Amino acid sequence: NQLGVVAVGFNGGQMKKGVEAAPMALIESGLLVDLKEDLDYEVHHDNTVHYYEKDIPAEDPDHRGMKKPRAVSAVTERLSSQVYNYAKDGKFVLTLGGDHSIAIGSVSGTAKAIRERLGREMAVIWVDAHADINLPELSPSGNIHGMPMAFLTRLAREDKRDIFGWLQDEHIVSTRKLVYIGLRDVDRGEKKILRDNNIKAFSMHDIDRHGIGRVVEMALAHIGNDTPIHLSFDVDALDPQWAPSTGTPVRGGLTLREGDFICECVHETGNLVAMDLVEVNPSLESVGAAETIRAGCSLVRSALGDTLL
Ligand code: ARG
Ligand code: MN
Ligand code: MN
Ligand code: MN
Repeated sequence: NQLGVVAVGFNGGQMKKGVEAAPMALIESGLLVDLKEDLDYEVHHDNTVHYYEKDIPAEDPDHRGMKKPRAVSAVTERLSSQVYNYAKDGKFVLTLGGDHSIAIGSVSGTAKAIRERLGREMAVIWVDAHADINLPELSPSGNIHGMPMAFLTRLAREDKRDIFGWLQDEHIVSTRKLVYIGLRDVDRGEKKILRDNNIKAFSMHDIDRHGIGRVVEMALAHIGNDTPIHLSFDVDALDPQWAPSTGTPVRGGLTLREGDFICECVHETGNLVAMDLVEVNPSLESVGAAETIRAGCSLVRSALGDTLL
């Protein structure tokens, strides 16, 4: 079992400091040691948290309402090739964020590797309180962590190379292969995008109605059982009771057990090829930071096959 880890200390997809410290906090709490010793992964990691200082331009004015577009673009372009380099050899890739804008890099990197290696289109399961599919012009905040799925599906497009123009066809994910779980704070423009493009989405309302077991079953049925899966897990999908230390908490979320259950079921498919864990911000709600980090570790361990007998 080969596992490639990329630690991404990046916060430029939103305005709060602290989320760049998450990879270090997760690793210091023993996450990688657990994966090695308890779960028998051969862990490939450069023992570095990447901050991409050299890639971040000094001058970065807003563009189409996006904040720090060149910084996010440059960092995700680099991350995309880091992830690709692990995934092209068939390694499972774990990306530790950082804010959710980094998924532009991680998802595009796996999508490209899976296309080349298996000649297949990959699916994305996006577990989040938010849909993160805002078009730049419709975003209420201008924060790019609310837009990654729009660029990854080409619903948002930009030709300037230094503002996501580097995204090629091989990096792109089909809207048919995207499934959301846990939504409860979706912007007006995003609701229209989900509807118009027939994107499969399970909100907290659906989970209340059907239960988490049935929802995960339906989500996996939509993907089909022979499709490689990239799991992008935003810790704010969990209720703030379990994960208070995050930049955009929304009440009424998943229990930690429901979050772990989603990860376990995705692991059980045997089709999981990559995971992101994002938006842990240890400097917010200092009382809850340790708990949020522990929750994050638990989600990753579950996705990698712990907690199954
Ligand atoms: N929808 C809001 C926005 O566009 C919030 C996005 C929060 N995203 C996240 N990855 N936590 O700004
Ligand atoms: Mn979120
Ligand atoms: Mn909102
Ligand atoms: Mn998110």
